[in-house]
Amino acid sequence: MWTKQDLQALVQRQTGDYRLVIVSNRQPYIHNLVDGQPQFVIPAGGLTSALDPLMQACGGTWIAYGGGQGDRYIVDQDNRVMVPPDDPAYSLRLVWLTEQEEQGYYYGFSNEALWPLCHNAYTEPVFDSRDWRTYQQVNRKFADLVLDEVGDRPAVVLTQDYHLALLPQYLREADAPIITGQFWHIPWPHAEIFRICPWQSELVEGLLGNNLLGFHIGDHCSNFMDTASRTLPVRVDQEYNRIDYRDDTTLVRPFPISIDFDDICQFSESPEVTEEMVRIQDEWGLGGQIIGLGIDRVDYTKGIPHRFRAIGRFFEKYPQYLGKVVFVQAGVLSRSDIEAYQQLGGQIDHLVDEINGRFGRAGWQPIVYKPDDLPAVTLMALRRLSRFCIVSSLHDGMNLVAKEFVASRFDDDGVLILSPFAGAALELTQSLIVNPYATEEMAEAIRDAVTMPQTERRYRMQQMRGTVRENNIYKWAARLLVELMQCARGSKVGRSLYASAGMR
Ligand code: G6P
Repeated sequence: MWTKQDLQALVQRQTGDYRLVIVSNRQPYIHNLVDGQPQFVIPAGGLTSALDPLMQACGGTWIAYGGGQGDRYIVDQDNRVMVPPDDPAYSLRLVWLTEQEEQGYYYGFSNEALWPLCHNAYTEPVFDSRDWRTYQQVNRKFADLVLDEVGDRPAVVLTQDYHLALLPQYLREADAPIITGQFWHIPWPHAEIFRICPWQSELVEGLLGNNLLGFHIGDHCSNFMDTASRTLPVRVDQEYNRIDYRDDTTLVRPFPISIDFDDICQFSESPEVTEEMVRIQDEWGLGGQIIGLGIDRVDYTKGIPHRFRAIGRFFEKYPQYLGKVVFVQAGVLSRSDIEAYQQLGGQIDHLVDEINGRFGRAGWQPIVYKPDDLPAVTLMALRRLSRFCIVSSLHDGMNLVAKEFVASRFDDDGVLILSPFAGAALELTQSLIVNPYATEEMAEAIRDAVTMPQTERRYRMQQMRGTVRENNIYKWAARLLVELMQCARGSKVGRSLYASAGMR
């Protein structure tokens, strides 16, 4: 099993004198202002929860957008701060964006064009040429800061996600001593879908600036290679998943992302979490009930209305569970300036009112909805209290909520109901895999979770825990770095770096 120490040793061996730089839009520690004082919060989403342990283990620099109101108060003259705030291990360097840049690049092109384009959730992408220009401009801004950070020392730059698709190409054009890898945290759709994007060639070309391009699963790699071959004059080698374009090669590989299993497991066992379990059971009136759980960013790709419809159907079919089963939905709001997210918020509120109005009774409601960005300890207490957790994504790269639920169940109990459209379904095969569009089947899966004998729950959870324990975030990072360094050795930049460092 891969540990933090194994990864540290591997990084030493593989990357030696190379500096490790991660670039992403979202920063791992956002500083807000609370009563005029900067206070940090850890943002929601798989990207930061997966990469922070890696950076803590390896050190280096993480470059990201400084979007917190308190960020400017905590950085030095280089816009840098050491993090984690309570145990500094690596350097975080921030990029500032104007309101217009944030609007066009983050809300606009990244989240109203690319996000819906890459997720088959039937929300139409908005392609606005001003947003596209801003996206290009902001990608250049990030690239300039990376180049400043790297200087003339060899570096490995790992770019994250869809916000920065053009950056690798800009780095390559600068002819700097950089080995480039990128991980695309969301799905890559079929070429037939991607071709509606007016700037598909520029985006693909940007990504081909990488020596290594990673997706969660093989299907997304194939979709990307297919898109590249239909878009640009590339040579695609299906056997080795490589794309040759101009004089360079990009390897395209699946790396199913994961979590720090041991860390989550330990936190879950802590007395702090046990106390919180008692508190919320009491204060939220959950005592004596079978609890179902959903934890999501409130996003239209997560299928939250779909799972609520299934809960409604479950109570309709099996009224004997009224007053005995309760579903707690925790939510984190993000991107709320975007209309599609506001509409989703309205749709969810309406459904919760409708289902609670229909089935609720004095002192009991079928759905407890908490879109309040609950603290980590409360989320952990909820995971431990739940009989089942529903992940009903309509389309999802991986979905780490599913893996976090499994990691937190050191008692080997709990049932995971999981969408086949999340990458996690390929690994967590002992979950109850159910199509979120099939309301009837999902209602049945809820019943199965509620009635499943303890021995079966235990068997399934033990299997899933074994899988997540083994395929943890350190293994993910190790595989990615090893592949990256291997393919870099064969690349132009890698060859000259190795020659100048006298390495073979
Ligand atoms: C997904 C994306 C991440 C993003 C996260 C949270 O997991 O892949 O890149 O950071 O959602 O979204 P937000 O827009 O709040 O950063």
